[in-house]
Amino acid sequence: MKKASFLCATSLIAMLGAPALAQSPSGNVQRAGLPDGPGKDLVQGICSGCHQVREIERSLGYTREGWNELTSSMVDMTAAPDQHKEVLDYLAQHFPPAAKRPAKIIPGPYQIDTKAWKTIKLGQRARDPVEGLDGMIWYVGQWGNVIGRIDPRTDKVQEWDLPQGTFPHSVIIDKAGGVWFLGNGNGTIGRFDPATGKSTVFKMPLPEAKDPHTGEFDKDGLFWFSLQQSDMIGRFDPATNDVKLVKTKKNAKPYGIKFTSDGTPWVACNGAPCLYKIDRKTMELTEIKLPLPGTTVRRLDIAEDGRVWYVNSGKGRLGVFDPETGKLTEWDSPSGPDSHPYGINVMEGVIWYNESGVRPDVLVRFDPKTETFQSFPIASGNIYAGIHRNGHVTRDGQSLLIHQSATNYIMKVTPKPVAVR
Ligand code: HEC
Repeated sequence: MKKASFLCATSLIAMLGAPALAQSPSGNVQRAGLPDGPGKDLVQGICSGCHQVREIERSLGYTREGWNELTSSMVDMTAAPDQHKEVLDYLAQHFPPAAKRPAKIIPGPYQIDTKAWKTIKLGQRARDPVEGLDGMIWYVGQWGNVIGRIDPRTDKVQEWDLPQGTFPHSVIIDKAGGVWFLGNGNGTIGRFDPATGKSTVFKMPLPEAKDPHTGEFDKDGLFWFSLQQSDMIGRFDPATNDVKLVKTKKNAKPYGIKFTSDGTPWVACNGAPCLYKIDRKTMELTEIKLPLPGTTVRRLDIAEDGRVWYVNSGKGRLGVFDPETGKLTEWDSPSGPDSHPYGINVMEGVIWYNESGVRPDVLVRFDPKTETFQSFPIASGNIYAGIHRNGHVTRDGQSLLIHQSATNYIMKVTPKPVAVR
């Protein structure tokens, strides 16, 4: 019986894992790096379904309770209690708490209030929360192929399956409140209707346009999006369903996308030291070369004064480019060259981003006026795990919506000054 339930668990993993591996950024080559001991084979079998077991070695390390909390957001082993025990014993013995890739936490004058919601489908890689016009919070589960919605007034969380193979990378809201997702796995953009649970799907016009990644609507209702692995930038007109695509240079890997106040799209290059500015009429690209070799930029955001803030993920730095003057400034991120800054938002003139290359994942506040940093470890319940990849400022401009990809948490973070007594 026990064997049967374990088989059941593994077939569940196989089911969830097969498509996930195809999406895994780390590729699907499994390394046999786990230390020997009872439970190794179980861990190798169950825990390599969605990602490499290297994730375990690179983690913070946890107590037995911590491992239980973390893995319960990825796989349900309760139907096979003996195996569950063996897996937790193995993890706790071989991967106890340890300061690997430690973050440097900078104290400062702000504190954050965090409200967190847990998403439903296990191991879904919940990400990219954004607020709808009605105050609902939307997110996608990239590996779980789901779209989800949180009602912050009642804390109700709902999820719907997306068309097979979508593997949504992001979700975005149009001016009328319509919900759109980017089908990173099957070269689509889709519109989701929460009333029916159904999606209307638009296929990319070229087969080589494989992976719609991150998108935003401009002030005229046109949808601009990046296609990272395809080295393309796209524009979709929901009025005509027309898609236009332009190529970037090879291996630019266009990633984050935002607009200046006049509606000009800017795109970050995750594969090369560059930013792109796009002519919104002709879609002609202007490349802004960033000086430091090894620079790669996951995401950017644009301040009200028109300056382009970006994370230099490759070099562990924060940067700003002024299109008016051509002036460019970079600062070392507190946790150093391997801190891999990732999601970035400008909120009330202050820059917020996370350091995803260190453990725990840290939210950093940078005040451009004083050029000072402060940082906050991002908790997932009682543990620290996961990566924030892309978030949005809420419509009232007061809070950040972030997430933790490993633990299925979506969070609303509201900063305020620490009270002075
Ligand atoms: C159903 C999919 C799935 C399975 C199965 C799975 N995980 Fe994960 N795991 C995830 C996702 C999603 C992430 C986040 C990955 C990312 O953001 O790229 C993750 C990340 C991790 C991390 C990194 C945490 C951090 O941020 O430091 C660890 C450690 C981990 N998993 C351990 C395990 C262990 C142990 C098992 C087996 C008991 C397991 N996983 C099985 C989905 C899964």
